[in-house]
Order: sequence, then C-alpha cells, then structure tokens
Amino acid sequence: MQITIQKSTNPKAKPDWNNLGFGVYYTDHMFILDYTEGIGWHDARIVPYGDLSIDPAAMVLHYAIEVFEGMKAYYTEDGRVLLFRPEKNAKRINSSGSRLCMPELPEEYFVEAVKALVNVERDWVPKQYGTSLYIRPFMIGTEPHLGVRKSKTYQFIVILSPVGAYYPEGLDPVKIYVEDEYVRAVKGGTGFTKCGGNYAASIIAQYKAKELGYTQVLWLDGVEHKYVDEVGTMNVMFKINDKVVTPELSGSILPGVTRDTCIQILKSWDVPVEERKISVEELLEAGRNGSLEEAFGTGTAAVISPIGHLNIYGEDLTIGGGKIGELSQKLYDTITGIQWGKLKDNFGWTIEVK
Ligand code: COI
Repeated sequence: MQITIQKSTNPKAKPDWNNLGFGVYYTDHMFILDYTEGIGWHDARIVPYGDLSIDPAAMVLHYAIEVFEGMKAYYTEDGRVLLFRPEKNAKRINSSGSRLCMPELPEEYFVEAVKALVNVERDWVPKQYGTSLYIRPFMIGTEPHLGVRKSKTYQFIVILSPVGAYYPEGLDPVKIYVEDEYVRAVKGGTGFTKCGGNYAASIIAQYKAKELGYTQVLWLDGVEHKYVDEVGTMNVMFKINDKVVTPELSGSILPGVTRDTCIQILKSWDVPVEERKISVEELLEAGRNGSLEEAFGTGTAAVISPIGHLNIYGEDLTIGGGKIGELSQKLYDTITGIQWGKLKDNFGWTIEVK
C-alpha cells in the first residue's frame, strides 16, 4: 500500500503526561483510506488531524454503518515502540464489518496503516508507567443515501490518543450492578462485533448503574436474562473454586483480544479455564458460600479491571474483601509486562514499530 504523508505545519502542544485521562487528547495526524465500489481501497494517506468532511446524508450518520477497533502502542524502557497482537484487531474489524455488509479490508493494510501512523507520531507515545498510545481504527459508510442498503463508499480512518487508565479507579476494584432490564445484545444480532451501535445502546444502563452508586453494569443474555455476557465494555472472568470461568463466545459477546490473552496465559500457568455459560444464580451461590474468589473485566482499554462488589438483584456481594485478587494482579502484571517490554514475550505477541 502506497501511503502519502502530509505533515502538520502546526503541531500541538503535548499534554501533561501525568494527567492524560482516557480519550481526551489526539495527536497531530490521522490515517485515511477510501473505498469505492468497483474500484476498491485507494488513496492511503496520513494527513494533519482535523475535521472530516462528509455529506449530511452519509449513511454512517443515519444507519450507524460503523465498526471500530481498540488497540495500543507501548513505549519500552529501551526506547522501542511496541504493538500488541495487531493482527487480531485486523481480523476482528473484518468479522465486525462483514456483519454490517462492509467491504473487507486486507489485514496487511490494517497493520501497515497502524504502524505507519504510530511511526509518524512516535513522540506521542507516553513513557509513564501505566500509560500508552490508544489506537482507534474505524470504518464508516460515507455514501450520501437515505435508502436502507449497503453503502457504496467507505473510509477507513485511524486516530491516536495518548491515555492513562480507562477507569478513574485504575486497578482499584470497581462496583458492578447486574442489569436485568436493558440488554446489550442478542444471538443473531451484532453482539460479537465492535460496532458503534452496540455501545450507543449500552450507555443508558451505565448511567442507571452510576445513579445507584456503581461504576458499570454486568450484562445478561438478551433472551433469558439469566446468563452472564459481559461487564461494561469488557469481557468478564470469575475465579470460582480455583478455576477461571468466562462466558463462551456465543455470538452475543465480543471475542476480546485481552480475553484470549488471559486464557492463553492462564493455561500456560496450568490454571483450569472453562469457557461456558455462567448463570447469575451460580454467581449468587458462589458469592454466598465464599467460592467466588475473584472477578475481573478484561479489555484493551482497562487491561484488567477487578470487581470488588457485585450487586445481584439487590444483594450486594463483596468479592475478595473488595480488594484486587492475587490472580487478577498477576495477570495484569504479566500482560502489561509483556506489552511494555519488561517481560520476555514467550508468546510472540509484540511487534516493534520502526
Ligand atoms: C476496550 O476495552 O478495548 C474497549 O473496547 C473500550 C472502548 C469502547 C473504550
């Protein structure tokens, strides 16, 4: 892929690296690639970061023809910049996109685009412990058309944002509320995709949880409201009786990269992992009898987010004394250790940007 680069003549002042928040600051450049039916992908370019110009009738604005990815670049102590399993994101944007009838983006274009943009923005990769450069690739249907059908034109865009922790709690355990009114996804729908619409429909439950004094919600399956799906914007894992259990990839949950990473690491430690249905009743029982030892969310943004309190139908369970569990901490240290180049990458997950 031939990428033209137009450098910004007006670079921004860098933010306070110790106070980045999440998704607040954006770098000086962005990557754009166009798609036209009958022609394919064309005009790969890195241009100064700025407003997009799209027609008000662009299909993304009306029918949410949009999918996205979330990944990060990490600065190592010896001055390298690493990506973590980018090929997984390249694959997933296509599995998301095909559900929305969007064109396939060659995986090598995806990885090349991310590498090229991060390389241009190397001095935006934060160096402080726990910080990284969040990468947001996304694809939108741009054709001006109000009939409901596939878009004939698209843009694939990558933007970058230096970030700290996703939740202000950081690694402190969060309080979670089991949501039994709203659902996030149903089998046959878009639950397994990373499409904007899934997230738009989830926001109401987040505010409800906040009002009740919780950080996020635990989503249940959309049919029986009985089995656990996800937590907030993350996959979820429970340590029960020395085993780690996590919802199976049923079609309604996202196949998370961090989820897969945790499973592989746990198996390498000989920790039994079960991917299966988990009912709220089972959790309630395990919480009451003390066998629910740890619970945590897994995602690119937060990495590992320990759950200290779980409210199930009004009953407030405290997990692990409300503190981060040993296994959750070890997973966090191992994953971030590999990502920041501090631990040996025995799995071959990191790729250097150069
Ligand atoms: C992630 O954890 O990677 C996410 O997808 C969260 C994002 C929606 C901010």
